[in-house]
Amino acid sequence: MHKVGIIGLGFIGKMHLGSLRRTGMAEIVAVADKNPANLGQGAAQGGNIALEGDLSLDGVKTYSDGDELLADPDVEIALVALPTSLHKEYVLKAIRAGKHVMCEKPFVRHSEEGKEILSAMKGCDKNLMVLQCIRFWPAYAKAYDYVQSGEYGKVLSAHFVRNSPKPTWSWDNWLLDNPRGGGALVDLHIHDVDFVNYCFGKPDKIEAAGVKLPREGVGDIMALYTYQGGPVVTLHGAWNFMPKFPFRMAFSMSLEKASFEFNSMVDMNLHVYPKEGGELVPELDSADGYLLEDKYFLECIDKGVKPSIVTPEAALESVVLGEQELAAMA
Ligand SMILES: NC(=O)c1ccc[n+]([C@@H]2O[C@H](COP(=O)([O-])OP(=O)(O)OC[C@H]3O[C@@H](n4cnc5c(N)ncnc54)[C@H](O)[C@@H]3O)[C@@H](O)[C@H]2O)c1
Repeated sequence: MHKVGIIGLGFIGKMHLGSLRRTGMAEIVAVADKNPANLGQGAAQGGNIALEGDLSLDGVKTYSDGDELLADPDVEIALVALPTSLHKEYVLKAIRAGKHVMCEKPFVRHSEEGKEILSAMKGCDKNLMVLQCIRFWPAYAKAYDYVQSGEYGKVLSAHFVRNSPKPTWSWDNWLLDNPRGGGALVDLHIHDVDFVNYCFGKPDKIEAAGVKLPREGVGDIMALYTYQGGPVVTLHGAWNFMPKFPFRMAFSMSLEKASFEFNSMVDMNLHVYPKEGGELVPELDSADGYLLEDKYFLECIDKGVKPSIVTPEAALESVVLGEQELAAMA
């Protein structure tokens, strides 16, 4: 069993408390949060996705700050689930403390911070993975496999959507504070930016337009990525939808020999419409992307290999693409 300490036990920290245990490969030995209410049993749950698994803190050491957790020799892996503007500080501290590191997406608030982390990682024999969960989400992972295999020919166009009501759960409302959260562009839309980068690489041209809100930054963004000789890709991310609007992630792709459709408001399947024959609904892993990314990270440690599905370099590229979109909006 791998011994994990979670720094930041808000929405996504609790999600990993449950998903790491669901892997059956990890024991949560410690958690750290500066808000004592989050260290109590059954603490309130925020977020836009239901939490799953065992969320109890029985037998788990609780610390009021991340430094104490990192000084704990029982902790083999540190999972950083703090507000984005604190990722750099705690990822660097965790590396220096000799821990394997899992860091929530986005890797960092600004790309310069990511470059510092990559320098600090040089020669480091520990693993660092940014938790870009969409690369592991079964319908997305299946579409990625089809694209890479070429089974249905080249991708001609693709469209990605991520819409949600405003996130109101965060500690000190940091998510709605642009210097700390980066708005919907850096926090929400980055999932699709990262997946597009994973599937198609860096585009040759980026165009973008959106809605900037006074305190929180970009609330709504539409981006157009063009690849010479490759697909044209649109991405829409917005979190200024009405409070009762259900969180939605969706995509469609048009390939030479098939069309793909995924819409979380309908179901979690990938629907494939080949040129010939009827609709196919490939069987997918029944687990969610959180469990699958956690399991993958632990398996990489067991095998003594660096995670290759999300490298720190790739996670940094996605932050840079987000910055290029912001510049294109101006
Ligand atoms: N992968 C996903 O789907 C997903 C979903 C939500 C959030 N996230 C990411 O996870 C990170 C956290 O987001 P969240 O929604 O869980 O936020 P949150 O506000 O719910 O949780 C952050 C927690 O950190 C604690 N904290 C703040 N400063 C601290 C400090 N110095 N030391 C210790 N604890 C401290 C807060 O008390 C809070 O409990 C962000 O980077 C966010 O982008 C990822």
